[in-house]
Order: sequence, then structure tokens, then C-alpha cells
Amino acid sequence: MTFEKRILCIGAGYVGGPTMAMIASQCPRCRVTVVDINPERIAAWNSDNLPIYEPGLDELVRATRGKNLFFSTEIERGIRENDIIFVSVNTPTKSFGLGAGMAADLQYWEKTARQILEFSESSKIVIEKSTLPVKTALAMERILNCRENGICFDVLSNPEFLAEGTAVRDLKHPDRILIGSRETEDGLKARQTLVDIYASWVPKERILTSNIWSSELSKLVSNAFLAQRISSINAISALCEKAEADVAEVSRAVGMDSRIGPKFLNASIGFGGSCFRKDILNLVYLCRNYGLDAVADYWESVVKINDYQQERFIRNMLGAMFNTLAGKKICLWGFAFKANTGDTRESPAIFIARRLLEEQAEIVVSDPKALKNARTDLKGVEGQIRYIEDPLQAAEGCHAIALLTEWDLYRNLDFPKIFDSMAKPAFIFDGRNILDHRRCFDIGFNVYPVGKPPLTHF
Ligand code: NAD
Ligand code: UGA
Repeated sequence: MTFEKRILCIGAGYVGGPTMAMIASQCPRCRVTVVDINPERIAAWNSDNLPIYEPGLDELVRATRGKNLFFSTEIERGIRENDIIFVSVNTPTKSFGLGAGMAADLQYWEKTARQILEFSESSKIVIEKSTLPVKTALAMERILNCRENGICFDVLSNPEFLAEGTAVRDLKHPDRILIGSRETEDGLKARQTLVDIYASWVPKERILTSNIWSSELSKLVSNAFLAQRISSINAISALCEKAEADVAEVSRAVGMDSRIGPKFLNASIGFGGSCFRKDILNLVYLCRNYGLDAVADYWESVVKINDYQQERFIRNMLGAMFNTLAGKKICLWGFAFKANTGDTRESPAIFIARRLLEEQAEIVVSDPKALKNARTDLKGVEGQIRYIEDPLQAAEGCHAIALLTEWDLYRNLDFPKIFDSMAKPAFIFDGRNILDHRRCFDIGFNVYPVGKPPLTHF
């Protein structure tokens, strides 16, 4: 079969893998190859045990792999043989030197740009899929267009907005696709090529085009706005606990204003995930670089409230359990940073587990998909840690349950049985407000939700 377009994606991670699987499934006339420097990851993409868990992803990959979707470690060959190259490598927070702890670490990104330059034998469209600081495309262009051999590169920005746990649905039915380009003749032509790919399944009115800097910046700003809503409601949850208000009632009332809207107003133990924190800090760093300290302070406070909310959860546990956790057994229901994923990057559960161990509590970690990652995250941390997948078994003999991930399976467990198996008085700290608090209280638990008055038997 001859293919109309040959697409490469460098970086087979949470974004590269699912995004390319969707393009392959929606564009059968495109040949899509995903490459990575990590051979184990590629082997997993080629096996029945994919490296990431996402509802619907197995089916999507099974339907396309070996037909028009390929996973490989042959990066040089991939660059040589393809005309459209997505770059979806990781862009973590820099951990050294200037900007450490704030700025984006662009070493993987730059290495990729240099590889593209070295191995290209024809002109190509290079697409920033990774989340990057505004003006990164300029650096990319400068690296790529430094030889005079007639090979040209058009750089586009096409940030990804999928959320983990709903990646397949988000990719199939995106709110919008954003494509930024230079507004030159070549830039606009390259932009149209990418528009045509997405137009195979995304309605035209949802495909936005913009100048390249607006596109890069919109991604950082979208994540900052989403995280800001969570920090806003979490800040209010602290006030609700003092004022005997119920944060769920407040967020319902506020969210019914059509100008505000109901989404992303669930109070919690704080946001996690690989991107919110890093992208806001990146935005803060950019603002400071441009001398916009007041703007930087504003966005930095979103991260500060998130840290405060996690520490507040621990302090509430300590206060409720008579100011000592030493020697007490605490079961953590959930370790993933949100439901329907095994991903634990920046999960609040990591901070909470470490803090509980610091207080000399013994912890039992339970999660349906994230136990492998949890073991890695807590490797070398001092203290008593056990890992038990079954939530009932995990809670046995414990003094308290801390619910940290909103997995559906925790909603309808046999709570009388769980209560009977626990040390008394038994506590539940619902960090996601998903349980039936009144029912748990009636069974005998002392129940501490987030941002609501506790229900206690004392
Ligand atoms: P990830 O760590 O899961 O995957 C990145 C992959 O790139 C890794 O497998 C790594 O081995 C590979 N890689 C690094 N350098 C390479 C090189 N030189 N050549 C080939 N492969 C290389 O990261 P991710 O979660 O997929 O995120 C990728 C980018 O997308 C980040 O910028 C992130 O901010 C952004 N993003 C992530 C999400 C998400 O939900 N995870 C959503 C939207 C945007
Ligand atoms: C987020 C964005 O939603 C995506 O649009 C974006 O593409 C992605 O980041 C990224 O750039 O990586 P993700 O982190 O996968 O996606 O998941 P979210 O659903 O946004 O949840 C993030 C965190 O916020 C989770 O820990 C979640 O539990 C928490 N959250 C979410 C709340 O505490 N309250 C809410 O109301 C919503």
C-alpha cells in the first residue's frame, strides 16, 4: 500500500503513543512511526502490555499497529524516511543551574532538534507537540536552519490538551486543536498540511490556527487556568472547614453561574500530574525573566496553595487522631494522581505518604493500577510500607483510611465489613469527597471530608 503522508513522532510517552495511535486510526492513508530512545518502552508498545494504562487505548493500538502504526527505536531512520515530524519528548522542570526548580529543562528537546538536523536528507515539517516555553520555536528554527544545503524546515506549534484517564476520548473529540505557525507563505502551507490531517476527524470549527507564539503560550495558560480553578476552590475549602459551610454546596452554587461553569471545581488534596506544577512554574519563570514580578507572584500563588492543601490534609489527620500518628496503621486508598490512570507523577499521594512516614505512621498503599509506580516513588523512603491491591485487605487492622484517588471502585465497597476489620476508633479521611459520608458515619466511622464539617462520634 502506498501512503499519502509519512509521519514520525519522536517520544513514545503518554502523549506521543496515544496521539499517534489516534492519527493512525483516523488517517489510514498516513503511515505513522513512533520512536523513542527507551528500548523497553518501545518493546512494551509492541507487546500486549502497553507501557501506559488508558481506557480504550489497547483497542486503538491493536486496530492499527503493524498496519499503519509502528513503534521503533530506529530514530535516525525514522528522521530520514518521514516528512512530518512531531516532537513529543519530555520537558521536565530544570533541576540544576540557572532557573533550577522553575524553568523548563530543554535538553531533550534540543537534542532532538540536532538529531533532526543531522539525519534529514529532505525538507520537513517539524511540529512542537511537547509543552514548551514561549519562543522555543525560534530556537528550534535557529538550530534547524543553520545549514545551506537546500533542506528547509518549517516549525509548527501544536500543543496537546489531552488529560490522562480520558486521553482516547479527548483525542477523538477534542475541544479544540491549536496549530501555530509563522505567517509566511511556507509557514501557512505547512500549517495547512497539519490542518488537513486533523480535519480527517475533527470538525473544522474546532481547528484553530494562530501565530506561533500565541500557540506556545496558550498551552501554558490553559494549564495555569485549570490549576488556578482547583487552587481557588481548595483555598475556599479551608475557609468552609472553619465556617461550617460545605465546599460541594458552594462550588455547585458558584459553578451554576454560566460565566463560571461547573468543571474543575472539586476540592481535593490538591492537583498532581506531570504538567500543572511544571507548566505554572515555567510560566512564572518566563514572567520573572520579562521583569513581570507581580504577574509571576500571582501565578506562583496557585502552586503555593496546592502545597498548602496537601500539608493541611496531614494536619487535619493529625488533629483528628489525637495529635499523634506514631505507630498507627494508615491505609491509603489510591496512589495515582487521578482516577483511570496508573501515572503517579507529582501525585499528592507521594507527599502524603512521605509525611505520614515522617510522623512514624505505618502505611498500607492500595491502588488498582499504580502500585508498581508507587513502589518506585517510595523506594528508599524510611519507614514501614506495605503494598496491597485489594482495598478491603489493605484496610484490615488499620486505624484510618485516607482516600487519595477518586477511583470509582472505592464508592461502593462493603463498608460495614471494612469497619469491623479496623482498629477503633476508625477514621476515614476522604481527600476526594467521593464517599457517602453520612452512611460511613452511621456505620461507626469518624468521617473527615475536605471542606465540609466532619462527622464524628466524639
Ligand atoms: P513522557 O515522559 O511520558 O514521554 C516522553 C518520551 O520521550 C520518553 O519515553 C523519553 O524516553 C522520550 N525521549 C526523550 N528524549 C528523547 C530523544 N532525544 N529521542 C527520542 N525519544 C526521547 O512524557 P509525556 O507525558 O508524553 O509528555 C511529553 C510532553 O507533552 C511534555 O512536554 C508534556 O508537558 C506534554 N504534555 C503531556 C501531557 C500528559 O498528559 N502527560 C498532556 C499534554 C502535554
Ligand atoms: C491536565 C489538563 O487537564 C490537560 O488539558 C493537559 O493537556 C494536561 O494536564 C497536560 O498538559 O499534561 P491531567 O494532568 O492529565 O491533564 O489531568 P486533570 O484531569 O487535569 O487533573 C489534574 C489534577 O487535578 C489531578 O490530580 C486531579 O485529581 C486534580 N483535580 C482536577 C482536582 O483536584 N479537582 C478538580 O476539580 C479537577
